[in-house]
Amino acid sequence: MTYENILVARDGRVGIITLNRPKALNALCDALIDDLGGALDEFEADEGIGAIILTGSEKAFAAGADIKEMKDRSFMDVYLSDFITKGWERVASCRKPVIAAVAGFALGGGCEVAMMCDIIIAAENAKFGQPEITLGIIPGAGGTQRLTRALGKAKAMDLVLTGRMMDAAEAERCGLVSRIVPAEKLMEEALAVAGKIASMSLPITLFAKESVNRAFETSLAEGLRFERRMFHAAFATEDQSEGMSAFAEKRPAQFKHR
Ligand code: HXC
Repeated sequence: MTYENILVARDGRVGIITLNRPKALNALCDALIDDLGGALDEFEADEGIGAIILTGSEKAFAAGADIKEMKDRSFMDVYLSDFITKGWERVASCRKPVIAAVAGFALGGGCEVAMMCDIIIAAENAKFGQPEITLGIIPGAGGTQRLTRALGKAKAMDLVLTGRMMDAAEAERCGLVSRIVPAEKLMEEALAVAGKIASMSLPITLFAKESVNRAFETSLAEGLRFERRMFHAAFATEDQSEGMSAFAEKRPAQFKHR
């Protein structure tokens, strides 16, 4: 497939999607969201891909939904077309691990898309925020929900109600970001993390991702029950047998399903 608003590449078992609308700081127009969904569908269907990196440019991961495209829309336009649910949640529904490699602005919908990913790695110049309030709207793709779960109420309210940006150091301190790296090392680090993940058993990686995500959807008792069932199911796979045999035999595991 060819895409107009993103670049798609692969590095071994890692799929790389680069948001590419430089003139608009990667503002997430409808066409870009369609492209992103298409690329994720392709990588998801490809057994040769074990992890995906989503990144932008040095200046912007994404500066939000496309304000110029949205500005004349009415309630009926956004309600009847189910704006946001359609397309946007594709990142969150991806079964394979997705790493957001964020440099520059990750604002509004850009911050929300980063939060739909499983791990956020930030360059030192990354800036996160939910500035929707300054536009007379509120976040619509998880900014009041995923941000609050990630940071807690005080920080989420601070960001959502004032629209201010936070830098990478603050984002790491409050748990939004898993690590910060110098800007020039961002892709190297993201590729190392994604490559490591993609070297594991793919079905077991999916078990792990689904189980962690359950923590956000259920009570502790139900989450623990789900985890235990997935843990038991891991023993039905050849990769459990290979992983444990390799340990006992002091050799690297050769997972079959990856
Ligand atoms: C459309 C955008 C854009 C956006 C930037 N641009 N952000 N176009 N939608 N979200 C365009 C600018 O209009 C400009 O185009 C070009 O990109 C460069 O931007 P500048 O503003 O000149 O750059 P700079 O001075 O460096 O400022 C960077 C910035 C600022 C601080 C990130 O661009 C900004 O505040 N952008 C809007 C951020 C925002 O409010 N995001 C939330 C959007 S609402 P021209 O043609 O003038 O050169 C949202 C809701 C999501 O995301 C809900 C779920 C779908």
